[in-house]
Amino acid sequence: MKEVASLLKNRNNVALTGAGISKESGIPTFRGKDGLWKKYRPEELATRNAFIKNPVLFWEFYSFRRTLIKNALPNEAHKTLASMEDFGELSFIITQNIDGLHRKAGSKNIIEIHGNIWNVRCESCGKVEFRDETNKIIMCSSCGKITRPDVVLFGEAVRKIDEAFEIVKKVDNLIVIGTSSVVYPAALLPYEGKKYGASIIEINIAKTELSSDADYFIQGGAAETLPKIYNIMKKL
Ligand code: OAD
Repeated sequence: MKEVASLLKNRNNVALTGAGISKESGIPTFRGKDGLWKKYRPEELATRNAFIKNPVLFWEFYSFRRTLIKNALPNEAHKTLASMEDFGELSFIITQNIDGLHRKAGSKNIIEIHGNIWNVRCESCGKVEFRDETNKIIMCSSCGKITRPDVVLFGEAVRKIDEAFEIVKKVDNLIVIGTSSVVYPAALLPYEGKKYGASIIEINIAKTELSSDADYFIQGGAAETLPKIYNIMKKL
């Protein structure tokens, strides 16, 4: 942690975050037994096919997620990244999360490549609107048809990915937090950064696909590990 803290000090750092960073805020991750909802895998439900086939089940799953997220508060990991940005130690957060907790924690430069769960989109008339009701199917306020969350579902194109690739090319350090690094193209970002000279620091409770290629792997919960590193940085 000391080595990582001195590596990060006064450098251009960027964080790439995944579901693990919000785990300690009470939001389940996607993979592993923890990620199961009823008997379904999120990977089966977070698809356009699932929406078309069974919109009621699809919305039940998203309402469940919206309720959890509505009640969730940013944890120490989100807050530490926000402080790092305030003090000029972090230039961007690229996140796969749709929960908005980085913004709630006070971070400003956030790239949400999978969208945000509070926006819904009508596939009939195209309207995108902010709607924060939970526990029900949300109908379009313009045409009355059923909407879907305006998030990236499996098989759909991610957002702002060109911007994310440009950012990682210019960083000194990429801190990869709480992602299994199996979903593309996000999983390519550390490799792109590395190709352009970035050091990759991974923080996760368990080894991932990325770990053997990371320059540093710190095993631990994000909410515990990030504040520890940042406290060391502040004393350097
Ligand atoms: P995953 O559920 O695939 O992985 C979560 C990662 O967080 C795992 O590697 C865990 O070991 C780790 N983890 C769990 N608790 C942690 C903690 N307290 N501190 C640090 N790490 C912890 O989630 P993602 O990698 O984010 O996409 O998944 C990527 C994408 O797949 C999601 O954005 C979503 C999903 O399907 C779409 O829906 C398009």
